[in-house]
Amino acid sequence: MPHAESYADPGTPEEQSRRTFMVNAVMALGGVIGLGLAVPLITSLVPSPEAVGNEWSPLTADEWAGLQKATDKPIKVTFSLHEVDGYLPPADTDQFVWAVKATEADFKAKRPELFASGGDKLPYPVGYMGFTIFSPICPHLGCRYSWVDAQSKFICPCHGSEYTNLGEHLAGPAPRGLDPLPLRDMNGKAELTWIEYKQNTPDLVVLRIG
Ligand code: FES
Repeated sequence: MPHAESYADPGTPEEQSRRTFMVNAVMALGGVIGLGLAVPLITSLVPSPEAVGNEWSPLTADEWAGLQKATDKPIKVTFSLHEVDGYLPPADTDQFVWAVKATEADFKAKRPELFASGGDKLPYPVGYMGFTIFSPICPHLGCRYSWVDAQSKFICPCHGSEYTNLGEHLAGPAPRGLDPLPLRDMNGKAELTWIEYKQNTPDLVVLRIG
C-alpha cells in the first residue's frame, strides 16, 4: 500500500511556482547574510602592514664592528633579523644589508627623488649614525644584487640593473634606485629594521615593516 504522502496534493501550477520562488528567495537571503558575515571574518584574518608591527633587530658587537668598516665602498653587514609575520611566533633568521658611510646630507644630494616633497617618501631618517643602509633586494624583481669592486658599482645578476654606491640607478630595467632601510641607536646599541617595498614601481611603496 502506498504511503500517505504519495497522495499529498502538489497544488496548482501557480502554487508550485510560488513555493519555488519562496525557497529560492530564502536561499538567496541566506547567502547574502552568510557573505556579510564571512567578509569581516576573512578581512580580520589578513594582517595589515601596521598590525605586523615594527620590530627592530639589534646588531651584535661583531655586527656593529663590521658596519663600522664601511667607507664610500659599501660592505655587506650580516645580522639576525627578528621577524614577526602576524601568524607565526617571532623567529630570527640570518639576513644581510649593504652599508655605506654616508650622512643624510650625502644621501639627499645623490637621491633627491626620495626627498622631492619634503622627504615624506621615506617613513624614517636615513644617514643615521653616519651610515646609509640599503635593502639587499633589487627593486626590479627582487633578486639580490652585489657590490662589484672592479667596476665600483652594485650589479644585479638577474637582469643587469646597476647602481652607484649610494643606490642611484645607473642602468638596466629597475624603475628606481636602491631602497634604504632605517638604522637607529637604542641605548647605545645600533638596531636595524626591515622594510619590504613593492617591486618594479618607480615610487617607494611600503608593503611590510619589521
Ligand atoms: Fe635585479 Fe631584475 S631583479 S635587475
